[in-house]
Amino acid sequence: MILLMILATLAIADEPVDRTESIYASYCVSCHGESIDKIPLKPETTTEDRVAIIGAGVGAMPPYNWILQDGEAEKLVKYMESIK
Ligand code: HEC
Repeated sequence: MILLMILATLAIADEPVDRTESIYASYCVSCHGESIDKIPLKPETTTEDRVAIIGAGVGAMPPYNWILQDGEAEKLVKYMESIK
């Protein structure tokens, strides 16, 4: 029982902080805007296209694969889709 409690506490302590909003605020908001008003998402691109673009960049947008951990590009796309 005590062991279980210790394990549960460790699991909470190890829970990674969700960085989505702070990444967006640091790296993306300057070009895309607070509500994706400056450079909007294109209606024809799919979620997968958007994830790939964030990793590899496109046109004037630099690639971000070097700062992102697994799954963070997906979270950024969901975040952008939710605030647009
Ligand atoms: C230097 C400006 C700049 C920055 C910084 C920037 N972007 Fe972009 N982004 C662009 C431009 C320009 C395009 C559109 C290029 C085009 O015309 O296809 C774009 C396109 C995109 C698209 C594809 C939209 C679509 O529906 O086709 C996504 C997703 C995206 N950016 C996410 C991000 C995220 C997430 C960040 C931060 C990690 C970011 N961008 C930072 C300039 C920027």
